[in-house]
Amino acid sequence: MTDLASHERVRTLDFELRRRAASVIPGGMYGHMTVGALPDAHPQFYERAEGSRVWDVDGNEYVDFMCSFGPIILGYQHPKVEAAAAAQRAKGDTLPGPSESIVELAELLVERVAHAEWSMFAKNGTDATTVSLMVARAHTARSKVLAAAGAYHGSAPWATFRMEGTTPGDRANVHYYEFNDTASVERAIEQAGAQDIAAIIVSPFKHHAGFDQEMVDPAFARRLRELCDELGAALVMDEVRSGFRLNHGGSWEPLGVDPDLSAWSKGIANGYPIAAILGKAPYAEAASRIFVTGSFWFQAVPMAAAIATINALQDEDAVGTMERIGTRLRDGFDQLAREVGVPICQTGPVQMPNLSFPGDQEFAKAFVFSAAMHEQGVIVHPRHNWFLSAAHSDADVDRFLEAAEIGLRAVLESE
Ligand SMILES: Cc1ncc(COP(=O)(O)O)c(C=O)c1O
Repeated sequence: MTDLASHERVRTLDFELRRRAASVIPGGMYGHMTVGALPDAHPQFYERAEGSRVWDVDGNEYVDFMCSFGPIILGYQHPKVEAAAAAQRAKGDTLPGPSESIVELAELLVERVAHAEWSMFAKNGTDATTVSLMVARAHTARSKVLAAAGAYHGSAPWATFRMEGTTPGDRANVHYYEFNDTASVERAIEQAGAQDIAAIIVSPFKHHAGFDQEMVDPAFARRLRELCDELGAALVMDEVRSGFRLNHGGSWEPLGVDPDLSAWSKGIANGYPIAAILGKAPYAEAASRIFVTGSFWFQAVPMAAAIATINALQDEDAVGTMERIGTRLRDGFDQLAREVGVPICQTGPVQMPNLSFPGDQEFAKAFVFSAAMHEQGVIVHPRHNWFLSAAHSDADVDRFLEAAEIGLRAVLESE
């Protein structure tokens, strides 16, 4: 490992690849991983990763507090996950049907997640949320869905952030409420028509990109459950971003509120492509009636990786590690910001930190901070929550705090 702070960061190949990409990839890059609108210090292209560290294409090393936007939950190249994936790859990945691992993985998820009595698999979080809503609609024979305004549930036309390329009809059956606001849910029910509501979809806490995060009010969670029961609608939990980072089961289990269906992806296989739809028994029949599939949905390698990941998460107390490291980071960062004299706002669970600067117009301060952090060899995002993995260590937090002192001073100077 290099001395991250003193390492001179040359970025020749990254900019050369950006130039080439601009001719053959729309926009040069697209989706959540594009750095086009971020400071130049954010690399676009990466070469390799291990533990909590990543290397860009120019060989610069970073401590990564984004974990590839969440999938990396045990650290890059976790030995047990890699061994399980390699063993399965040696036998085959895409096969004429699923391998034994699909049954083992479904059994493991049913054992681990309290509300789960069955499981189906797909590839991405968008698949999982979309399939969950299809199951809810097939079960209820109703059309309407309530979702929190501003929440991200995927890039399908019913959910994507931008309207370009979609039609109003794509989301004609979606009505919106405000997270943690019961009265707004009741208004949305009235607007949608109680008789036609198939589901209320919700994330375990408010994690809209670009906003401070908000933990769920337990009374709100309980009221959503009651309303779904009164309506005969499914409570659908979007665990895609949060799954297994807050709890070794469902994120609302500590509250005693169970959804009927839940959508998972990102962290469940430590970076291997897989998503899961979990559900309560009464929804299994509808789930068996819908037609959903994909050429690569039944690949055996991601399933083997998922089994190894879910076992390692519990065996290694990953949630406990992320909480401990995350608490040190949050407390240390708060103290540092007070010392340097830059007001900051940290929100959400410590293992998924979100930083904002009060009154920051157009994320100007956040951009200065994230650019300085990258120059110091620390990856953070200026307007999206960060992610910890169980591979983050006390030394990584120390490194974060050293870099953050420089980042905060840069913010101070930019004012
Ligand atoms: C809460 C939530 N739901 C759904 C999705 C969509 O997942 P994917 O990008 O894997 O399709 C995401 C992705 O960031 C997410 O954060």
